[in-house]
Amino acid sequence: MRKKIIAGNWKMNLTPREARDFINSIKDKINSDKSDVVFCVPYLDLAVALNLIQGTNISVGAQNMYYTDKGAFTGEISASMLSEMSVRYVIIGHSERRQFFGETDISVNKKVRKALEYNITPIICVGESLDQRRQGITIELVRQQVKIALLDIPAEQAKNIVIAYEPIWAIGTGETATCDQAEEVCAAIRLVLAEIYGQEAADAVRIQYGGSVNAANAAEIFAMPNIDGGLVGGASIKAEFEKVVNYE
Ligand code: PGA
Repeated sequence: MRKKIIAGNWKMNLTPREARDFINSIKDKINSDKSDVVFCVPYLDLAVALNLIQGTNISVGAQNMYYTDKGAFTGEISASMLSEMSVRYVIIGHSERRQFFGETDISVNKKVRKALEYNITPIICVGESLDQRRQGITIELVRQQVKIALLDIPAEQAKNIVIAYEPIWAIGTGETATCDQAEEVCAAIRLVLAEIYGQEAADAVRIQYGGSVNAANAAEIFAMPNIDGGLVGGASIKAEFEKVVNYE
């Protein structure tokens, strides 16, 4: 039985002071054993978040990182920096990074390998645009994104990654994929994992759905057999996140 993992992607929201107030307002309500809960916060909020979640079951993640250890890469953050701070997760290849900051499948793979080297669990984002869905290439595209993201990653490491299926047309739009649409793609992701690594490893990987997950739809989505939780944007920085985590 895979344990659910529900991660909040704060994106570029909440100053350190706002982060402190928000975490203090919600941490006791979402401190459950039922699911793993992660706050993926802006870099500048990491210290505040790590401090406030002590003594809870909540983990902290970053939203990006660079793939070399150190050097002349102005503005970037390395896996070693995140690791030294005890950051346990990092989102890699979010569609907003692919769209606005030139992230590619190849750079995603480099980042995933580097994160794993530092024992940081990557949450790898994949998903199609509305045009791609209309063209009928969703499954092929997502298979390709997954395969390239995992190049040269052995099964033992692959078991620990998290994959987030996020249809771009459902992100921040209030339009959620239907449970069947989400399940179809998440099942296809598990199939490609089984092709690469075998069924046992594929069954260990947790696959999230992301895209307008909220208090009203979380339970239904998380009940699908191949969906092991969610990557939650807008609803993760509201009181509503409590209801997403404690879905019933
Ligand atoms: P959303 O964002 O929940 O606001 O649609 C999800 C995401 O981008 O991870």
